[in-house]
Amino acid sequence: MATLRTNSKIESEYRARTRRSAELYEEACRVIPAGLTHDSRTLLPYPVYAARAAGPRKWDVDGNEYVDYFGGHGALLLGHSHPAVIEAVTRQLPLGTHWGSSHELEVRWAQLVNRLVPCAGRVRFTASGTEASHLALRLARAFNGKSKVIRFVGHFHGWHDQVAAGAMSHFDGGVPAGILPSIVEQTILLPADDPARVADTLAGRDDVAAVILEPSGASWGQVPLPPGFIARLREITRAHGVLLIFDEVITGFRWSRGGAQARIGVTPDMCVLAKIVAGGLPGGAVAGRADIMDQLDAAAARRSSREKIGHQGTFNANPMCAAAAVATLSIVEKENVCAEAEATAGAIRAGMRQILVEEQVPWGVYGEASAFLIFQNPAKLPLDPATFDPLRLGFAGLKGARNPDLAYRLRVALLANGVDIMGAPGGLVSAAHGEREVAHTLEAFRTAVRWMKAEGDV
Ligand SMILES: Cc1ncc(COP(=O)(O)O)c(C=O)c1O
Repeated sequence: MATLRTNSKIESEYRARTRRSAELYEEACRVIPAGLTHDSRTLLPYPVYAARAAGPRKWDVDGNEYVDYFGGHGALLLGHSHPAVIEAVTRQLPLGTHWGSSHELEVRWAQLVNRLVPCAGRVRFTASGTEASHLALRLARAFNGKSKVIRFVGHFHGWHDQVAAGAMSHFDGGVPAGILPSIVEQTILLPADDPARVADTLAGRDDVAAVILEPSGASWGQVPLPPGFIARLREITRAHGVLLIFDEVITGFRWSRGGAQARIGVTPDMCVLAKIVAGGLPGGAVAGRADIMDQLDAAAARRSSREKIGHQGTFNANPMCAAAAVATLSIVEKENVCAEAEATAGAIRAGMRQILVEEQVPWGVYGEASAFLIFQNPAKLPLDPATFDPLRLGFAGLKGARNPDLAYRLRVALLANGVDIMGAPGGLVSAAHGEREVAHTLEAFRTAVRWMKAEGDV
């Protein structure tokens, strides 16, 4: 089994607490490539295996308790097993998991998305965010009759072929193995630090259907966007008749109850949704202007002399997911859950920053809304955590410079102290996290940072 570092207190503390996880990982590696079912769950020396979760916490197979900031990859704004979601899903289960029919819950679900999300004239459900991003690009290309799409370096839109290059690898736009060069060629990959590059590109060509971006900046804000970038994109795309698509898979119902678009006051033509939109169960959606979305409607397409766009998917809006979604979005609509999660994340960011100052660790803590991100400064740049500004580092200094081993070391040190964060490294905070979780997290962070200092990681 891989070892991150020999003679490491961090690793030995982790191994001592997680023996059953180690055993399961060994079994998994014999039947599952890398022993993992999602690249983002990679962790050296091995990941923890979860057994149950409730509210802001989860427990592993060895009985260890963690404050959880993975939050179901961001799907759990209300925390784990929220009573209203459990009740809705439990009520649905004996009534049928899949009717293969239209049903009332999908109507209520679409109405909620329509009320909450500014651009959502119409909504079509999918089974994942990847599928939703695929559908949004298909709709955009058909609507404009053009083939190219502008994407931004490091922005992630799921794992399908059209959005693979430049998202998690091949940041120069090169062709990832297994993907057709002719598909990669349909993307114009631009840096997300200069709207003039987009304006110049659109001024010089007439084959662009859409611009798609994460309105948080790449990977839920790991590379924040310059102020005014999105508003400028809106002006530029409108001037050229190019569709603007927000990928709100993370930001939807999190950056605000109406997503990033409501928070920043810029309405795209379409948005891609997943995670919170399906209440913590699998699901996604495309929401957008009625004239674009109605390409999915045969009669409407005929009326506007367009070809009907195909869209299937066995599990689209299945009643189990719809039940969880309606329960979740009803709470998002009525209660202040986004603001509560954001306030807690703010306390975590401020607390971590203070610890870095006190421990004289030249890292940075940043993030927007209910996200927190930790910049581990792999190049050991001179940096004051009190005044750290991620915008000054840009893509190359942030996501482009990320050192996975350093991130694993922090994650493992935190896990050994009862906190589970994501690999960025960073975390997404739920409305179920409160003062107790913040206090525990900050104590664990201080210990983890001290351990890393002692082992030469800082
Ligand atoms: C911004 C963004 N878009 C799309 C996706 C893909 O969603 P899914 O994992 O549901 O396919 C993700 C997943 O993390 C995401 O973060």
